[in-house]
Amino acid sequence: MTPNEFTHIAALMPDPFRVLWRVKVSSTNDELRELAVNGTAEGLVLVCEEQEAGRGRRGAAWFSPKGESLAFSILLRPEAAKSMWSRLSLTAGLAVAEAVEKFVPLAEIKWPNDVQIGGKKIAGILVEAGADFVIVGIGINVNSGNFPEGLAATSLKAETGNEVSRAEVLLEVVKRLARHSDRIDTDFPEMLEGVKERCALTGKRVALTYSEKRVEGFIQGLGPSGELLVEIAGKLERIFQADEIRVLSE
Ligand code: BTN
Repeated sequence: MTPNEFTHIAALMPDPFRVLWRVKVSSTNDELRELAVNGTAEGLVLVCEEQEAGRGRRGAAWFSPKGESLAFSILLRPEAAKSMWSRLSLTAGLAVAEAVEKFVPLAEIKWPNDVQIGGKKIAGILVEAGADFVIVGIGINVNSGNFPEGLAATSLKAETGNEVSRAEVLLEVVKRLARHSDRIDTDFPEMLEGVKERCALTGKRVALTYSEKRVEGFIQGLGPSGELLVEIAGKLERIFQADEIRVLSE
């Protein structure tokens, strides 16, 4: 295969992870899903230069400027019971936050798994499960410079003032996800502590939409399953899935 920016990390990837590099794809999640359905073994990491139909959560589009941002998806075939697979969502957020912290001092996690620096989004994650696999799709603003007006976003380059190697960032994420994803059944409480330490919402007043309701509440923290604990009108609610969360005040 033609050497590319990611060739040199091949030998450094933890077993069984390996990189497949493509110039242009529709969405790395969609193309990796096709490979997964056709029996590709765990650990394939599909990374591309350009996505024509990159997707975010809740059906939003995800823009990844060519060559500047990092867009990739990782194929997992978890051994843990399927009931535990939802834990991979927080776990992936933690892996990305830890990887980002190799380059900047402190990353925050906006539940469930947006990664931010100083309140500005630096990475988004889209986890999708199939019958016997999970695709963890990750978009990281590595060297991105121009963000659409009104978008609270940043990149590693904007934070550090330097170009950062996308291959190094990819390798850091894979190393951490490899370790964490293997232990969702045994070490989840420990991983949750890592998420809690970085939780951008704890102590904040937020407006959130869940189960088709729009409510305002105060975030108390995270519960034992990683659910959001929100005080709404004096009552503590446990929220496992929310559509939109907006911080109203610090
Ligand atoms: C979000 O913040 O809403 C999640 C964004 C996830 C984007 C990544 S980029 C690589 C992978 N392929 C996709 O189509 N989406 C994910």
